[in-house]
Amino acid sequence: MSTNRPLFVAFEGIDGCGKSTHAKRTATGANARLTFEPGGTPLGQVLRQRLLAADEPMTSETEALLMLADRSHHVVSVITPTLASGQSVVTDRFFGSTLAYQGYGRGLDLTSLRAATRLAIGECRPDLTIVIDLPVATAHARRSPSKADRFESATLDFHERVRAGFLDLATTETGWVVINGEQSLDAVARDVDAALAAIGWAS
Ligand code: TYD
Repeated sequence: MSTNRPLFVAFEGIDGCGKSTHAKRTATGANARLTFEPGGTPLGQVLRQRLLAADEPMTSETEALLMLADRSHHVVSVITPTLASGQSVVTDRFFGSTLAYQGYGRGLDLTSLRAATRLAIGECRPDLTIVIDLPVATAHARRSPSKADRFESATLDFHERVRAGFLDLATTETGWVVINGEQSLDAVARDVDAALAAIGWAS
């Protein structure tokens, strides 16, 4: 049964997992607002450009704090007002990406990242977080051969830690589901729809 309450859904996963395709399909099917991180606001676009620039060194702490600044602004200026207006929101990445990439991937302390996340997003938590999971090598092969950004140019080991991080988070966080991204697009879409139906998503 679908709910009348606007819902907030996040898609997560490693680079090249296919989450953007499914986030877009999900939002379009339900007339929900599609948004993304980093960069879902004008300020966020500036942060995204600097965050992805592979030739601008920064510490992992700086990287995490810029991701969180982007998210905090995104929550206040896009996500919360959209939900308050009665429209559902689908975001391509949310707080799970900071825990997975900067925590499990870069090795920053997860307890500190969780505390900083609380500061950044307050009570704004997704009703559902969908992790599209697939092996790093498969995701890597799917990526377009364009110039690699800071994260795409990181080692395979880094991406393995990020993948393991998402899977670990899915066992501890509430409202997370993992979907096998190695299946056909249609099969992944079916699994996504089943997860959405369980929270009363009207598509
Ligand atoms: P994304 O826009 O999803 O990648 P793409 O360019 O393939 O569409 O995200 C850009 C990169 O930012 C991605 O490699 C993951 C990284 N990232 C983090 O490291 N931490 C975060 O908190 C977020 C939101 C993204």
